[in-house]
Amino acid sequence: AFLPTPPFSPPTSIFAKLSMISFRSIFRFFLLAVCIYTYTYELIGMKYPTNDRGIVIVTGASSGIGRDTAFAIAAKSAAASSADSQSGFVVWAGVRTGEQATDLETAAKEAGLAARIRPVILDVTKGTDIASVADQVAAADQPLVALVNNAGVGSRRPFELEDFADVRSLLNVNVVGAFALTHALLPAIREAQGRVVFVGSIAGEVAAPLNTVYSASKFAV
Ligand SMILES: NC(=O)c1ccc[n+]([C@@H]2O[C@H](COP(=O)([O-])OP(=O)(O)OC[C@H]3O[C@@H](n4cnc5c(N)ncnc54)[C@H](OP(=O)(O)O)[C@@H]3O)[C@@H](O)[C@H]2O)c1
Repeated sequence: AFLPTPPFSPPTSIFAKLSMISFRSIFRFFLLAVCIYTYTYELIGMKYPTNDRGIVIVTGASSGIGRDTAFAIAAKSAAASSADSQSGFVVWAGVRTGEQATDLETAAKEAGLAARIRPVILDVTKGTDIASVADQVAAADQPLVALVNNAGVGSRRPFELEDFADVRSLLNVNVVGAFALTHALLPAIREAQGRVVFVGSIAGEVAAPLNTVYSASKFAV
């Protein structure tokens, strides 16, 4: 479609025809390569910055994967940047109780990461907690460069035996809570051109027996 109708008489010899075909193929391939290059490197790669400083929020950081993620980001950042709190990442580690916050603070101090980990009270099912964190982000002097939606609960039972209070509660944490928090923080994340991570599961790829509701929640994220 990009090639003009040739104003010349078509080639007659087989070699001349072949050379026209290969010229067109090369031209089309060249156009395709230019499009792919432009899209990949100009739009995604070169114009999308990699932030090297700012706030990273990790939900569900009182235990397990969330806690390990918070400490791993903090430790890597501490190793890669100066002690200045304005350089590198500061992890806002979401917990649900004051006790968990104290426990996290103590562990961060012991690991020499007190400046890099800051517990925040954040139950993802509570609108007041979400609004409070969004306000703290707006008042912070650093950009929000990443949100890790890790908080999650499991359930493992036959669907016939599900209690629907539990079903609603699980979906509220794993799906609605993650969406609500992301929705509230998206303006700040967009401003920083940051990233949003949803912690999925193999249960979100394959639905296994006894895992109906949990699987549904992970398929959702
Ligand atoms: N472990 C695995 O094998 C595995 C595999 C695939 C995916 N995952 C996913 O990885 C994530 C973390 O799992 P994990 O194994 O580390 O589990 P975990 O140790 O039980 O941690 C779950 C975390 O979520 C928090 N949480 C629960 N309800 C919350 C709420 N309403 N608001 C905020 N935080 C809440 C918990 O806080 P509390 O301590 O206050 O309850 C805890 O910090 C989950 O999304 C899970 O689905 C885990």
